[in-house]
Amino acid sequence: MKIFSIYGSPRDDGFSSALHDVFLDSLDPGFFIEKTSVYSLAVSPCTGCGFCRDNPSCPIDDLMRPVYGGLRDSDAVVISSPVYFSSVPGQLKNVIDRCQVLWEEHIRRGVPYRKKAGFIILASGSDYGSVFKPSVTVLGHFFKSINCVLGQYDMMLVPGTDGMTGVGPELIGEVRSRAADFSGRLAASDKN
Ligand SMILES: Cc1cc2nc3c(=O)[nH]c(=O)nc-3n(C[C@H](O)[C@H](O)[C@H](O)COP(=O)(O)O)c2cc1C
Repeated sequence: MKIFSIYGSPRDDGFSSALHDVFLDSLDPGFFIEKTSVYSLAVSPCTGCGFCRDNPSCPIDDLMRPVYGGLRDSDAVVISSPVYFSSVPGQLKNVIDRCQVLWEEHIRRGVPYRKKAGFIILASGSDYGSVFKPSVTVLGHFFKSINCVLGQYDMMLVPGTDGMTGVGPELIGEVRSRAADFSGRLAASDKN
């Protein structure tokens, strides 16, 4: 099982990254995990040039190349992200926008992609009613474009981090149990 894992926070020791680490550590040790941190990737924004409408690639030659490979070939994609101005941070959005290559290929031109499982971890400073809605919409749209299916329990939303001093044992327990469930389903799907 290949897991492609995308860290969306610039803070390695922030809430979403810490929970993401625990999630990955709790998966079946036999899974192969490839980690990418969007803030360490020199990735330019999509320019909307239209090249990928007719070609299975992007003319911008940068570190998106290995990301495309990881997203096409994986069995599962895990994304963690902070909420910035009610959505995902700019650098994560850059990476997602550059995945228009995959949207064009899979959705518009119908090239089949391996079905993937998805998991999302989001952290926000506040906890107003719709705080996660835009991020969930963006990430859900992204997942659809790579044939990644998000199950009912495959999202961990952590509001109110401004009032927390760190990731406590309750959150760690919760993320471990979600990871165990996710891991079990993935391993079972491998046998089918
Ligand atoms: C630029 C910026 C914008 C933010 N915008 C929001 C926001 O719109 N809503 C919110 O609840 N928290 C907002 N926050 C707070 C972060 O979501 C919060 O600190 C979160 O824990 C960051 O995730 P991380 O700990 O994984 O880095 C913002 C923080 C920054 C730095």
